Amino acid sequence: MGARSAIETWRAWKGNRRIAALTAYDYPTGAMAWASGSPLVLVGDSLGMVALGFESTQPVTLDMMRHHVAAVARAPGEGMLVADLPNGTYERPEAAVASAQALIEAGATAVKAEGGRLIADSVAAIRAEGIDYLGHIGLLPQSVAHPSGYKVVGKTPEESQALIADARAVQDQGAFAVVLELVEPKLAQEITEFLAIPTIGIGSGPYCDGEILVTSDLLHLGPKNPPKHARPPVNYHALMTDTLCDWVRDVEERV
Ligand code: KIV
Repeated sequence: MGARSAIETWRAWKGNRRIAALTAYDYPTGAMAWASGSPLVLVGDSLGMVALGFESTQPVTLDMMRHHVAAVARAPGEGMLVADLPNGTYERPEAAVASAQALIEAGATAVKAEGGRLIADSVAAIRAEGIDYLGHIGLLPQSVAHPSGYKVVGKTPEESQALIADARAVQDQGAFAVVLELVEPKLAQEITEFLAIPTIGIGSGPYCDGEILVTSDLLHLGPKNPPKHARPPVNYHALMTDTLCDWVRDVEERV
């Protein structure tokens, strides 16, 4: 999907198609995410927490992202493969372009970064290179050192005004859509109504144009409890651990 057509396609979906997006971190999760029919798979820097065992997304590097993007890119499937620009790699426009190009070379078709007005110059530079861009505002995990600090944003008039200005900046810089993470639901609805590009919510209530979920949370793949908004139907961590335990017991008992 080229730079122009991504924006046109996604704007045409606004109000006409609900968008469900998933994350992926490696070949098997990539294959499952594409098989779901989702039009967008994100190699999120959440991989730092759900695949690498860090407390936050802050330690994730560009090299780690490249490694995981390349693995997901080998999975069969079609659609937008978006890669997160990790912490500290896009504050200056030249660095942002170099980082975005590195992820595109690894197999991504678009990139995402966290922030609005503060990173407008970096986003403009990325777009000037013809690289498709997905915005991300609201809670910005790269600014929080521990998940205990993940709180709903936009509850005060000041925070609301700031988020509205950030949403406009992301659209003005040429994003094809924007992720709203942990945004107060009424504010998420207001932003959804005034933007011409689709909003993709996560923990932001029912009024966005679409939803994105961390696949490992939806499947309950990890040893810790996933966030409330994920509501996994099955605890696959327990199910798979039981399978391994059964096998070890069978071998030990020579079944
Ligand atoms: O890193 C990630 O998985 C994300 C999603 C939560 C949107 O940014």
